[in-house]
Amino acid sequence: MQYKYNIITFGCQMNKNDSERMESVLCNMGLEKVGTPEEADVIIMNSCSVRDSAEDRIFGGARNFAKLKKNKPNLIVAVTGCMPGRDKDKKLFKKLQKVDLYFPTADMVKLPDMLCKLNPDFRKINLASTNLLSTDDKLVLGLDSEYLKITPKYKNDFQAFIPIQTGCDHFCTYCAVPYARGREKNRPLQDILEEIKKLAKNGCKEITLLGEIVNHYVALDPEFFSKENKYSKNDFAKLLWEVNQVEGIERIHWTGPHPIYMDDEVIDALTLPKQINFLHLPVQSGSTEVLRKMNRKHDREFFIDLIKKIKAKKPGISIGTDIIVGFCGESLKEFQDTVDMYKECDFDISYPAKYSTRSGTVADKAFKDDVSIEEKKRRWFVLQDLMKEITYKKNQKFIGKTASVLVERYKDGICAGNSSEMRLTHFSGDKSLVGKIVEVKIKKADTWLLEGDMV
Ligand code: 5AD
Ligand code: SF4
Repeated sequence: MQYKYNIITFGCQMNKNDSERMESVLCNMGLEKVGTPEEADVIIMNSCSVRDSAEDRIFGGARNFAKLKKNKPNLIVAVTGCMPGRDKDKKLFKKLQKVDLYFPTADMVKLPDMLCKLNPDFRKINLASTNLLSTDDKLVLGLDSEYLKITPKYKNDFQAFIPIQTGCDHFCTYCAVPYARGREKNRPLQDILEEIKKLAKNGCKEITLLGEIVNHYVALDPEFFSKENKYSKNDFAKLLWEVNQVEGIERIHWTGPHPIYMDDEVIDALTLPKQINFLHLPVQSGSTEVLRKMNRKHDREFFIDLIKKIKAKKPGISIGTDIIVGFCGESLKEFQDTVDMYKECDFDISYPAKYSTRSGTVADKAFKDDVSIEEKKRRWFVLQDLMKEITYKKNQKFIGKTASVLVERYKDGICAGNSSEMRLTHFSGDKSLVGKIVEVKIKKADTWLLEGDMV
């Protein structure tokens, strides 16, 4: 029998990349990927804990999949990702109905073993064609106990996400990540460079480096930096320089940095030739008092000056940000500080979020979540409307200019991909352009879409 799996991924790019690694484990076990949970024998939900609404979707999913078990008693439902990571006292698990496996991300190396325990039939899968080793009573990955060493099943040949770090030690007071993903752990430089070089050989053009504070990267094996490296102080800037030297890689992107680690070398690295013309730099609030309560370790002026410095170094760079509205005690004046800062920084895009208390965090213990949900919604719309207005205006400036687009998709005569400024761009073309970088002359610009002709 051919067993089938379906993975549903919530949350950030880190989770998407973790799912790519799990796919690789399941494919190596001989399982086949299917498009819907209804067709699957193993359903895995890769959860996100950033907000209540994200966790609610996992509770809902578990309820729905429990119903599928009536017709398919051997169905295995699993939850991994941030929820099991932060749920030390299993309070969340108790609310999940009929979930068979509940494991933190790093335990994906034990997936073959865990699945075989639930259904011994999995052992009958022909292991000869896989890179799994069978031992007496355990089925283990023939790779390593370190999950980041599992080669992911990349979504396509020309783009890849590369985690350089997991976890975070910063403890912003609102954030569940340090609890869900543990302390900051940096990946060896040699592993990162080897993965990127291998990808480049296989035709990969765009690399996105991932980390919770990506610009706080520290190489455990700095001897692998080249002697010619342009930078000397900041390991992340040095890493960017190294990736720039990899033949075949044409675009480099990274997310997410923390403002306090944007030193002169990292700012300079924004001018390296393969760096895309976009930076995502979360600010969270434009009020010094709110930033202090969030434990962001910088004030409003520091951030505004930083944006000025970045724009002076790389004129024309597009900048995106994350903002939380309605954090504990956020007054109308403090919210207005955020609105004013938004205008001053002239962001190209932002991801506003309504504050949602995360159990176990400092904010949950020390402050009152006292901005009403209606007021949070109102503030969210104020920022959303402001973003739309500014983004629309800024997009008009692309008309008549040429954008460099990595084509990701083709449908009905239209090619689609992101420009170097991370603007979704459409143009008439054919399927053979997928995976190529194409120059497109922009003739029409909307809030979320640029349209043009290939030059
Ligand atoms: N409530 C709302 N938004 C949050 N974020 C992180 N934690 C919370 C929370 N408790 C947002 C931040 C972060 C993004 C990934 O999610 O803006 O940058
Ligand atoms: Fe969370 Fe702050 Fe760490 Fe980012 S820096 S992951 S917001 S604790």
